[in-house]
Amino acid sequence: MSAPNIETIVSLSKRRGFVYPASEIYGGLGSSWDYGPLGVELANNIKNSWWRWIVYERDDIEGLDSSIIQNRLVWKYSGHEQTFHDPLVDCRDCKTRLREDKLDRNEAGKPVCSNCGSTNLTESRPFNLMFRTTVGAASSEEDEAALAYLRPETAQGIFINFANVLNTSRRKLPFGIAQIGKAFRNEVTPGNFIFRTREFEQMEMEYFCRAEDAPRLHQEWIEGFRGWLQSLGISDRNLSLYEQTKEELAHYAERTVDIMYRYFPEREDESKQWDELMGIANRTDYDLRVHSKKPEDAEGKRINPDSTEDLSYFDTATNERFYPYVIEPAIGVNRTLLAVMMDAYTEKTNEKGEMRVILKLAPEMAPIKVAVLPLAKNKPEIVEMAKKIKKDLQRSMRSVYDDTGGIGKLYARQDEIGTPFCVTVDHESLDDNAVTVRDRDTWGQERISMDQLKGYLARRVV
Ligand code: GAP
Repeated sequence: MSAPNIETIVSLSKRRGFVYPASEIYGGLGSSWDYGPLGVELANNIKNSWWRWIVYERDDIEGLDSSIIQNRLVWKYSGHEQTFHDPLVDCRDCKTRLREDKLDRNEAGKPVCSNCGSTNLTESRPFNLMFRTTVGAASSEEDEAALAYLRPETAQGIFINFANVLNTSRRKLPFGIAQIGKAFRNEVTPGNFIFRTREFEQMEMEYFCRAEDAPRLHQEWIEGFRGWLQSLGISDRNLSLYEQTKEELAHYAERTVDIMYRYFPEREDESKQWDELMGIANRTDYDLRVHSKKPEDAEGKRINPDSTEDLSYFDTATNERFYPYVIEPAIGVNRTLLAVMMDAYTEKTNEKGEMRVILKLAPEMAPIKVAVLPLAKNKPEIVEMAKKIKKDLQRSMRSVYDDTGGIGKLYARQDEIGTPFCVTVDHESLDDNAVTVRDRDTWGQERISMDQLKGYLARRVV
């Protein structure tokens, strides 16, 4: 099974320390969230899995960590200043501010307010999603020369470093540059927990290639990512593909396929259960061209008179110089985390007829791999042995020691946060030098001798 709705994950997250509402003691801040002790581990596991798969397990991708605040010209020439808008409307009846492109339409084709059902809406007007700031101590809020933006995507940091990475890593096409980092968008209608927020984290990779190879590589990355998402424990029946229409395509894209997740299983209409988990775009040579000093328009004028670099590529085998195409798989850490948690959510009834929550996370995703529990916390030898096991295991896997309740309660707590194994130290352990290992999913128990323990667990969780 998976979670019946996002609300179930919101309350589990708060109860167990995955995600909390941000600024809560001051009344919160709309759609901002803080990641607690377990949430930060889960997010790190997602990022590490992505980085390992994309950067380490291949031989054609380099990593990068570019600045969040860049020269404003980056966003001028990328097209974001001109086009990174959402169509904004206000409902005249209930005063709600809405994104026009997300509204249902009535039979006459008029957009309908999602809050009160009225069609009495203002004309749509473009609203730029970039957060503005000013750089430098002397600048005033209005100082255009000091204007800067918080990046709305990590991708541009990659394009403007294309020549740096190419020259320092001596790469040949096709090759990619990968980056993980925060991005910021002043979303008109954030919501659905961590699904759409104004501050979020992206994992983006730009895969540079020859134009003729782009369609094939695009398809390969779509299939590759579908497989990677399943390796995180997300079941394929909750994933689907969506081909963006010409009207939906971003200004830079020739073709974009979204991988959708079933975030809203409670909705009756199947088609409304899905929303975007990630996008995989063929951005053509748009970005490298617009950031380059050379290209000229029809009248022979430089398209970019501010750039000092030409981001073209010279192919020594064919003696050609050209701007590479780029395939871009772009995915949010937060949306991935939500999908991983929803998919892992399971309910099971115990022998007493009580409902228990089990988060059946893939071991690689589990925030804690092993919990070591003493059966009697008033027996110093047992406590000492349990703490020593925790310390030994911690070197190779995230482990915790917990003695804050009865064993049934401790097992239930670990099940709910997705810990694959509990190790219990009991009175017999002192004599036979063995412990009980309990499996989260089956609740089955096995007696394992101490000298076998680390190997037994490592084979299953690392
Ligand atoms: N560089 C391309 C790009 O940024 P995007 O589809 O706008 O493409 C990529 O964003 C991914 O980033 C999305 O598929 C989603 O996972 C995540 N994302 C975008 N906006 C988000 C938001 N407001 N809150 C949370 N995640 C977001």
